[in-house]
Amino acid sequence: MQHFYIDAKREFAEEYIFRSILMNGMYEGLYPLGTALSRPLIAKRVVEIARRVGADAVAHGCTSKGNDQVRFELTIKALAPDLKIIAPARVWGMTRAEELEYAKRHGLPVSAEHRKFSIDDNLWSRSVEGGPLDDPAAEPSEEVFKWTVAPEKAPDKPTYLTLEFRDGLPIAINGERMDPLALVTALNGIGGANGIGRIDHMESRVVGLKSREVYEAPAAVILYHAHRDLEKLVLTPRELRFKHGILDTTWSDLVYQGLWVEPLRVALERAAEEMERWVTGTVRVKLYKGALWIVGRESPYSSYSRELADYNRGWYPSDEEARGFIKMWGLHSLIAIRRRRLAV
Ligand code: ARG
Repeated sequence: MQHFYIDAKREFAEEYIFRSILMNGMYEGLYPLGTALSRPLIAKRVVEIARRVGADAVAHGCTSKGNDQVRFELTIKALAPDLKIIAPARVWGMTRAEELEYAKRHGLPVSAEHRKFSIDDNLWSRSVEGGPLDDPAAEPSEEVFKWTVAPEKAPDKPTYLTLEFRDGLPIAINGERMDPLALVTALNGIGGANGIGRIDHMESRVVGLKSREVYEAPAAVILYHAHRDLEKLVLTPRELRFKHGILDTTWSDLVYQGLWVEPLRVALERAAEEMERWVTGTVRVKLYKGALWIVGRESPYSSYSRELADYNRGWYPSDEEARGFIKMWGLHSLIAIRRRRLAV
């Protein structure tokens, strides 16, 4: 028997996490997709090894209840349609207790926390589910969290960060240039120490059931808010609404739902890249006891005009211009309510 150990952190950061930053990857508004993003990369590496050793089948440990079976199998099928896929836990209909029993019988050590919860972690997030978390009404106990301190135990002084973005992607923290892997690692540390990134999510799985998921994702939460803020400074309102309302949410749904291989995913990224060419600048973030505020932003491509916004310069728009605008702006609605004799 052979064992392969693969460290794909750098590729994960550069090719998966950074795309997700560009696309504001976030499922149902709360989950930064850490587990979902990792599955296509794992599948790719498994297929490479299957080819190298001449295997005619690959196996994974997913049950029938989750999203991961969909993500792994669709990516494997796309890369290697001839490879047989075997899912023993699913075939045997194993319960978690039976899985633990199986591991014990075969001398595979399982830690106490993995006995209690189902945990998946990588550079972008730590996902915890199952056990006591299956009661959505009960607050997660402190033992669930590994990456983040409890907000009430976080430092009494705020931490300020200056994040620099180029073409929609983060390149530096507090003036220090960092590659994607170093940057995400650093933000997980700083955010976690300030209690940032705890997420408690009622999640709609692809297989027809809801689940209560708890995540820790300090870097993902900081970068999501900082990047969206910079987009708000730079993009036109039409670009913003199209990107957030259509591109980002569609992309996040595809990634969550196991459809990394769907051609639309790449098309959405291309459309976003065109707009993100201007999402360059810096964002200042304040972290304090589990909360995060964006307290400043700057960009050479800012769409904000201080002159226009300033209430002390009254010359634009003129009274006449404003009246004309308001009249035409509301005309559709005014005609409709009159014709329909609607009460307002
Ligand atoms: N619910 C998340 C997802 O579908 C996380 C799954 C984590 N996997 C696990 N075995 N705990 O992406």
